[in-house]
Amino acid sequence: MAHYKDLFNLTGKVALITGGAGGLGQIMGLGLAEYGAQPVIFADYNLEGAKRAAAAVVASGYQADAVFVDVTSKPSVDSMVDKVSRQYGRIDILINSAGVNNRKPAIEYTEDEYDHILDINLKGTFLCCQAVGKIMLAQQKGKIINMGSVSSVLGHPHHGPYAASKGGVALLTRVLAVEWAKNGINVNAICPAYIRTPLTEGYLSTGNHYEQIVKTIPMGRLGMPSDLVGAAVYLASPASDFVTGTLLLVDGGRTAD
Ligand SMILES: NC(=O)c1ccc[n+]([C@@H]2O[C@H](COP(=O)([O-])OP(=O)(O)OC[C@H]3O[C@@H](n4cnc5c(N)ncnc54)[C@H](O)[C@@H]3O)[C@@H](O)[C@H]2O)c1
Repeated sequence: MAHYKDLFNLTGKVALITGGAGGLGQIMGLGLAEYGAQPVIFADYNLEGAKRAAAAVVASGYQADAVFVDVTSKPSVDSMVDKVSRQYGRIDILINSAGVNNRKPAIEYTEDEYDHILDINLKGTFLCCQAVGKIMLAQQKGKIINMGSVSSVLGHPHHGPYAASKGGVALLTRVLAVEWAKNGINVNAICPAYIRTPLTEGYLSTGNHYEQIVKTIPMGRLGMPSDLVGAAVYLASPASDFVTGTLLLVDGGRTAD
């Protein structure tokens, strides 16, 4: 008879999270650690923030580490992956959570502003998938979770480059899922609606943005970082072994409306 109580067990899995100093990266990392991942490695451009995230996980009694990465730079991404794989022998779980946004009417973006968003959100996700993908192909096993957004599928005004990057992340996820489907690698994306983190705090705190956004969410509230933990654990765990190329919308019904 089959048993299912270990479906979400991540014991001993080496997890790497880019954007690990961020509001969502930190909490997903703690969630993975609580389900057994060890160590959870927080990678970020903000190394001090990544160290703080790792220290919080260690203070909760789990193993964690921190490493610098600039996801827009191939040498930096390669050096992160090299360091982690040499030190820990493998990489079982990758969450690509580094991301930025800058909201304004499409005609107002400078070329540099556009490039900045696309470089971090889309090129950065590609470079990390590629570098970690090599390790996972050698292992013939791995779980990759990209961070999309409801902007992967909806055309919010004033989100031109962000939506272009997140739509790109959605299709990159599906392409890699198909390319690596026979290699034991699952590639999926979590697509959240608005959640209060450093990425959104400024926007939500000005004008009536908060009230306007809440009105568009059928559940009548913003997401909370903790709303993503179950999605991250699921997509990192054996429970999702037959799930690949999917966009898991964690959005209070926003895209169902
Ligand atoms: N918060 C939301 O409402 C929301 C909604 C949908 C999708 N998302 C996505 O989730 C992901 C995480 O968002 P968050 O809310 O935690 O944002 P956040 O701003 O709290 O964290 C983002 C992290 O990315 C890091 N980063 C930026 N540029 C980098 C680079 N070049 N190299 C390495 N790290 C870099 C930052 O230092 C920061 O720690 C992002 O991809 C974001 O687009 C967030």
